[in-house]
Amino acid sequence: MLATRQKILRRFWYPVMPETALPDAKPVPFRLLGQDIVLWRGRGGAVAALADRCPHRGAKLSTGFIDEAVPDGPALACGDHGWAYGADGRCVKVPKAADPLRGLKGGARPHHAASRHGWIWVALETPLADIPDIPEAADPRFRRIDEFHEPWAVAGLRIMENSFDTAHFSYVHAATFGIPEDPRPAPSTIEHTDWGFVMRSEAPVSNRGIGKELLKSNGDRTVRIIEGRWFLPFFRASRIDYPTGLPTSCAPARRRSTTPPA
Ligand code: FES
Repeated sequence: MLATRQKILRRFWYPVMPETALPDAKPVPFRLLGQDIVLWRGRGGAVAALADRCPHRGAKLSTGFIDEAVPDGPALACGDHGWAYGADGRCVKVPKAADPLRGLKGGARPHHAASRHGWIWVALETPLADIPDIPEAADPRFRRIDEFHEPWAVAGLRIMENSFDTAHFSYVHAATFGIPEDPRPAPSTIEHTDWGFVMRSEAPVSNRGIGKELLKSNGDRTVRIIEGRWFLPFFRASRIDYPTGLPTSCAPARRRSTTPPA
């Protein structure tokens, strides 16, 4: 059985795409936990999410269009017969009906959608926890790095496990910040929280090439002072400080992480 079929996973927020990936005038499809959804922008540019299936005859709503000609619009219209749906999924327009704007009872299945930290977040059912708070995301002293907005053929928890594993530095990152001749993982501590845990570690790393410029440090070695936060089930944010006082990064991640590139 696929882990992602566990129903409880439908009750968490997931960052599905950057804000910039969703235009005002066009719906965009996404598959979350095996379910096809459509993202679009409703009134005032507010993000909305519906199941990507028109309840009329099953066409994909993501192939439809934004219909401005409805009260309290815009609405998301199906490309097959033009039925239109509001952000709550309610059918607000049936073009061929005698009274088109009377709409119909029922409609498309709505999901929870929100904008935060420059990303669009979706929860398929009533979320058990808030969208993760990342104080550094709005702090201009931090250089923020969002990584990997792309599909990965890997289990979500495997990505999370890798995110907190400092033992792979000397091998996977041997050409950049890893220290091949010292493969011992740095000691770390774990603080459990209501939403997951916080891992803290001070990991010695190589300081090569462009790293010297970026970190404003000429030594061949430095230390990453890492604070990694895990938010159930598939979200991780990391803060990395350096002895030079340079706070380096913090950003959201589902299939994304926040450490500098390998
Ligand atoms: S299938 Fe969507 S309006 Fe007919």
